Amino acid sequence: MAEPQYQRGLEGVVVGETAISTLADGLSYRGYAVEELAEHGTFEETAYLLLYDELPNAGELAAFKERLHRSASVPAEVIEILRQIPTQADLMDVMRTGASLLAHWDADQAASEREANLRKAERLIVQLPMIVAARQRLVQNKEPIVADRKCSFAENLLRMLGRGDSSSAAVRALEVSLITYGELEFNTSTFTLRVVASTESDLYSAITAAIGALKGPLHGGANQQVLEVLKQAGSAGGAEAWVRDALARKVRIMGFGHRVFKQGDPRARLLKPLSAKLAKETENAELEATAEQIERVCAEKQLYPNVDWPTARIYYYLGLPSELNTPLFAIGRMAGWCAHFIEQTEHNRLISPMAKYTGPARRSWKPLSERS
Ligand code: CMC
Repeated sequence: MAEPQYQRGLEGVVVGETAISTLADGLSYRGYAVEELAEHGTFEETAYLLLYDELPNAGELAAFKERLHRSASVPAEVIEILRQIPTQADLMDVMRTGASLLAHWDADQAASEREANLRKAERLIVQLPMIVAARQRLVQNKEPIVADRKCSFAENLLRMLGRGDSSSAAVRALEVSLITYGELEFNTSTFTLRVVASTESDLYSAITAAIGALKGPLHGGANQQVLEVLKQAGSAGGAEAWVRDALARKVRIMGFGHRVFKQGDPRARLLKPLSAKLAKETENAELEATAEQIERVCAEKQLYPNVDWPTARIYYYLGLPSELNTPLFAIGRMAGWCAHFIEQTEHNRLISPMAKYTGPARRSWKPLSERS
């Protein structure tokens, strides 16, 4: 029998089928280029498209928004538990706990039909941001801010995070970042979620696992470290020397490189002008110039920025602390994850691969007295 093929890190391996997004010819969600969604669409329209396969008409969009508003409350017991989690806990860990907790108060928790999964998805889209925002307030000894039904999803998110004073350009920048984080085929956290879905487990378990996978610094956690990179580089004048030295020492520059987008991440190109615009508005031109120098030197080594590179700067210009960066990635990805859960359950076969064994050859048991 031929030796089964093995690809380290599953690079280039096709592990399933999807109709949700493709990276062919740039990134598109259900056939729409991410650039078009970012230019014309709202977060709510994009979430609807991911969950329901088509862009909504006016009536469908109004009904979807109404359902999201009606779901915008978190059980008081969950808020009480959030108060008790130690202050130093990582916000992604709190978000992961929040996803797990919400399951206990959801009457649809064990229901597995499509309609129940869609109802749960809509609740997760609004309630997990509320948990993140509430936790942010509670650790500052402030009470959570309630969602305002007159506001869009992005406006509400900023309001609940205590940035209700943001300009319309700032709200739109956040919204576009959430749209670009929306979906990316079989990336690591989505694959994690699909593995859980394939066992016929439930949506909350799969989302909890996906949040855990996203947290790592090689995946979503990278956006939390981008500001540290810029801080270490120091200034536009010193950035070139810093990055050349870092690359020579084989340091991984967070916010650069991608498993699939080897010639550059289209989302980074899309977000760069938004970052530059906000930098100007907030008098952060030096940080943008530093970023530009790092980009220039990395490009010499065919190392290009990924989505996290401009996004982390946008969030900084919005006045958000960097511990919020990865939770915001998860908030943007929620509809995409839920769409993948539903797709996996509707075309399911258990995902259970095999390994190439690298351990010792078969050997015989030794009694304890004979072991050295
Ligand atoms: N800085 C410096 N060198 C890098 C980087 C980087 N950011 N990314 C890749 N390389 C080098 C790497 O050291 C290796 O060099 P060599 O062949 O000499 O050992 C080569 O490029 C190939 O790297 P790899 O790790 O085998 O490539 P991969 O496809 O497994 O890596 C990656 C993808 C995202 C893990 C990697 O580029 C990385 O670690 N980037 C930094 C973390 C980051 O920004 N992650 C966010 C990804 S985009 C958002 C998301 O969807 O998660």
